[in-house]
Amino acid sequence: MNRHAKIMSRTVDEIVESRRLRRMRKADWSRRLVRENALTVDDLIWPIFLIEGDNVREEIAAMPGVFRLTVDLAVKEAERAAKLGIPALATFPNIPLAKRDQTGSAILDPDNVVNRATRAIKHAVPEIGVITDVALDPFTAHGHDGILRDGVIVNDETVEQLAKAAIGQAEAGADIIAPSDMMDGRIGAIRDALDGAGFADVAIMSYATKFASAFYGPYREAVGTAGLLKGDKKTYYLDPANADEAVREAEQDVAEGADMLMVKPGLPYLDIVRRLKDEFALPTFAYQVSGEYAMIEAAAANGWLDGERAMMESLLAFKRAGCDGILTYFAPRVAEMLKG
Ligand code: PBG
Repeated sequence: MNRHAKIMSRTVDEIVESRRLRRMRKADWSRRLVRENALTVDDLIWPIFLIEGDNVREEIAAMPGVFRLTVDLAVKEAERAAKLGIPALATFPNIPLAKRDQTGSAILDPDNVVNRATRAIKHAVPEIGVITDVALDPFTAHGHDGILRDGVIVNDETVEQLAKAAIGQAEAGADIIAPSDMMDGRIGAIRDALDGAGFADVAIMSYATKFASAFYGPYREAVGTAGLLKGDKKTYYLDPANADEAVREAEQDVAEGADMLMVKPGLPYLDIVRRLKDEFALPTFAYQVSGEYAMIEAAAANGWLDGERAMMESLLAFKRAGCDGILTYFAPRVAEMLKG
């Protein structure tokens, strides 16, 4: 029998059985050649924490290597981020307790620490994108993302407050407004408010699917809501059990004018990332939240895993799931590594 005849006589089953999927994994060059996804510095959004004052840097206990920064130091970090090629920062404030109240009114103050930081960063480093969080939780005395009346988070009044706050943040120079409160109707209201105030070019990144998660623990310490929050956020954040409902949430935000979608937390919700990307084909992001950062750092500090490899692998997983970018506290470290 000649070689050709032998091939022709093989059954499909025989051919499949003899397939060698390891063939392309045999060397570094061939693995690189067939690699499907890559993490680059362009994928990174760096969340930073702000405090009032001058030249102060406070480390957050459950987030080693992450600090609350005064505006002057935040500007320095923005300069460093720009040099590293990080496209954008996302800011989160820790507001003095005396300025927190029932309705989170300090969010409307043009000189609150968020707006001052935006102005200072955009003045010093105009080439870096500034993303501001529109949510009341750092500003309310009860740590909720909405206005609380008789034990109920009132939706429409909160949305009105957020829309006003968004205008203030845009006036300060924010490039992207990121509502993280999960009230109904806030994307449309914020879009209308921005357009009406002459900020048609300010984009909205919707925390479209934000789950009621245990992984926000260290963040609440960082912004000082941990000790204040009574009850939980289950009446407005999504149930971690629900994926179809997450798609409906995103659908609503898309209809109301969201430019970008975000999934939060990140790694435990990669199925949602994939579904949103497939369904809406919008720029899609995930937030690798404080608890995810803390887990990797804690295990690495104990010598239980290689922290650097776990960091890179976790971020690559977001790319594989369909993310265009990731909000991550690892951003500057990753950018340094990618630079070599
Ligand atoms: C609330 C908000 C949260 C985070 C950012 N903004 C969640 C919360 O406190 O309920 C979490 C970020 C993180 O954990 O890294 N608007």
